[in-house]
Amino acid sequence: MGKLLLLNGPNLNRLGKREPDVYGSETLEDIEKKVRSVLEPYQYQLDSSQSNHEGELIDWIHEAEGKYHGIIFNPGAYTHTSIALRDAISSITVPVIEVHISNVHKRESFRHTSMLAPVCSGQIVGLGTNGYRLAAMYFLESNL
Ligand code: DQA
Repeated sequence: MGKLLLLNGPNLNRLGKREPDVYGSETLEDIEKKVRSVLEPYQYQLDSSQSNHEGELIDWIHEAEGKYHGIIFNPGAYTHTSIALRDAISSITVPVIEVHISNVHKRESFRHTSMLAPVCSGQIVGLGTNGYRLAAMYFLESNL
């Protein structure tokens, strides 16, 4: 049985209330449900965690080794700043897909750079909350 980890970084607990013109009206719970519904027919399990703290996200990435087949990760603003998260991803063999709800390339220039993308398997950007589902489908189709 496959097992995936859905990880969300800072401020993503505010989805649904936070800048709905940029991030839409769905909550993190809605997103979790959507991803679960993609995985369920294939008997894939999903664990989901959100943190506003870089160190906590790093701990969870380390703990994912040997436990999950893949990680779907929206690192929020840490995407653009965190060498520590990049090193955490590099330290494990579990593949990570970086997801952004908004099209970061259409936004401020500081959002155009990802510290993490070079150590992730891939990146899904600007497809709204569907990006999370698409990442789950990638893992299913890769048969991980
Ligand atoms: C985000 C994009 C980031 O630039 C921003 O800091 C977020 C959300 C997205 O999902 O579009 O918190 O990761």
